[in-house]
Amino acid sequence: MMYLVITMRAAIVYESLHHGNTKEVAEAMASAIGADLVRLRDRRKADLQDYDLVGFGSGIYGSKHHRDLIAFATRSRFRNGTRVFIFSTAGLSFLSGLWHRALRDELSKRGVAIAGELCLPGYDTYAIFGLLGGINRGRPGDEDLERAARFARSIAEADT
Ligand SMILES: Cc1cc2nc3c(=O)[nH]c(=O)nc-3n(C[C@H](O)[C@H](O)[C@H](O)COP(=O)(O)O)c2cc1C
Repeated sequence: MMYLVITMRAAIVYESLHHGNTKEVAEAMASAIGADLVRLRDRRKADLQDYDLVGFGSGIYGSKHHRDLIAFATRSRFRNGTRVFIFSTAGLSFLSGLWHRALRDELSKRGVAIAGELCLPGYDTYAIFGLLGGINRGRPGDEDLERAARFARSIAEADT
């Protein structure tokens, strides 16, 4: 009997500047699916053409993903059939439809299909929330990270 081994290559590209919230989520996803983890500011020239699945994520800053992440995702080249998902952490995560719009629209304009989206609560001490002691203290927590891992797995499994 012959076995066919299909190896899916995945990369997760992220930026995380406020409290490292998105870094934790990106790490949980990467370890769940064996993805290469690329922090944007450390490596701006990641070649995404080697990958079957790519995730882009950051904190939400001023109602959208980090501008460098949006620029990077927009100018990235993918090979045929690469699937892309987007994720974030945010102070007000229930508004993710709005927060993800800029990145989603840029990718869609380029004909990139989005396989899924996830936004999780992240500890937020920005502006008025800082004066109040912050919101989402302790988030992402263990359950959030498990959710992130499940989300990444479900997309990776749909990919093979
Ligand atoms: C400059 C700045 C702007 C932010 N703007 C938003 C926003 O528009 N909407 C929101 O829900 N959260 C906003 N936040 C909260 C962050 O998205 C949240 O804390 C996130 O988890 C940070 O991720 P990080 O620790 O990976 O950088 C903002 C935070 C900062 C520092």
